[in-house]
Amino acid sequence: MVGKVEAAFCFLRLQRFLLKGDNGVSKDILNVAIVGTGYWGKNLVRNFAKARRCSLKYVCDQNEKLLAVQKETFPFIATSTNLEEVLRDSEIDAVAIATDATTHFEMAKNSIMAGKHTYVEKPLTLKASEAKALIDLAKRKRIKLMVGHLLEYHPAVTYIKDLIENGEIGKPLYMYTQRLNLGIVRQDENTWWSLAPHDISVICYLFGSEPVSVTARGQCYLQTDIEDVVFATIDFADGKFASIHCSWLDPHKIRKMTIVGSKKMVTFDDMEPTEKIRMYDKTAEINHEANTFAEFISLRFGNILIPEVKSEEPLAKECAHFIDCILDDKPVLSDGNDGLRVVQILEAGQKSLKNNSIPVNLGGFECLNRRKRDILSMNQRTSIKTVKSAAGQKSGIFHT
Ligand SMILES: NC(=O)c1ccc[n+]([C@@H]2O[C@H](COP(=O)([O-])OP(=O)(O)OC[C@H]3O[C@@H](n4cnc5c(N)ncnc54)[C@H](O)[C@@H]3O)[C@@H](O)[C@H]2O)c1
Repeated sequence: MVGKVEAAFCFLRLQRFLLKGDNGVSKDILNVAIVGTGYWGKNLVRNFAKARRCSLKYVCDQNEKLLAVQKETFPFIATSTNLEEVLRDSEIDAVAIATDATTHFEMAKNSIMAGKHTYVEKPLTLKASEAKALIDLAKRKRIKLMVGHLLEYHPAVTYIKDLIENGEIGKPLYMYTQRLNLGIVRQDENTWWSLAPHDISVICYLFGSEPVSVTARGQCYLQTDIEDVVFATIDFADGKFASIHCSWLDPHKIRKMTIVGSKKMVTFDDMEPTEKIRMYDKTAEINHEANTFAEFISLRFGNILIPEVKSEEPLAKECAHFIDCILDDKPVLSDGNDGLRVVQILEAGQKSLKNNSIPVNLGGFECLNRRKRDILSMNQRTSIKTVKSAAGQKSGIFHT
């Protein structure tokens, strides 16, 4: 009799194993747990609860009051104050972490070690070395690691990425972003770590080039040693350039980015309810055959296009992407390497902030400002020629 029961269990285990994919997940439905149901985590709960091909099984938070709120809304979920208990549950395929950034590394490490596909809110970790360790661990355990770089899933950002890929705006030259508001003031991180990850991830995604150095300037007004406002710039290996202004001490609520291309210019204003993107058919063109400065640069002022962009909640798209990547074994857009790059830029920016805004390269060494160095060497290589405008007056200089 005992032999028969054991054989039946063996058969069930084998059947379960055979029904699972390479990545250890049953083919149809992903069982998900969420840890952290605070300001942001509750949005993850809402989206995973309604996502296709997903069963939200567990919600975990140290705060029992928050758990009770979730249980009231979603009576079918199990709750726990202890992540270890969740990780021991063999039914759970994937864990989404939305706790404060200081806890991300340990939690993600334990989740991956327990064989769970792991989603971590931004920033992936507080140190690049920790992000690298998570990437290696996930690779070894054949686990999908995803970072919550929300804006990469924003339909407007996807639209702009397509514009760039299709050559519509020409070569992207530079871009700048503004992420400003009064609040939310944090005490465990500065405005750079709290707000800039979104901008950094979008800048890297849209440019698709290698960032080489970061310069950041900020000020602490409300708390000691925690910057409320930061102005930062990122230089890229191919000459592209980006600037980020983030602040939680500002009278305006602004979520805006401007991308200047060699043919057209685009803005994305996330505070606009519907007309989020504007494409300006404006540019400045250089005529190398010109005899006068007036002819040398011609400005074009064309039409402004406001395209219709599909209205979809970026977080719903992000959650669906995590689920699909696991169930269909597809590559993750905002994967561990994406998370690492953002953390490297955050770390370099932090170093610059604390060292009189000195440019910091992404190898971790302070460097000479690349643009200044380039200009210096260009001046050595070229002669500078003054030209006369049509009116015969000295109007400018250009390099030959
Ligand atoms: N993608 C976005 O747009 C966005 C927006 C806001 C915040 N975030 C990110 O989400 C994360 C959480 O931010 P928040 O504003 O929701 O913070 P929060 O403080 O409101 O919530 C964090 C929650 O985690 C819980 N928690 C902490 N340690 C825990 C532990 N060991 N076990 C169980 N629960 C624990 C806390 O009790 C709290 O409820 C951060 O990484 C933040 O950067 C992302």
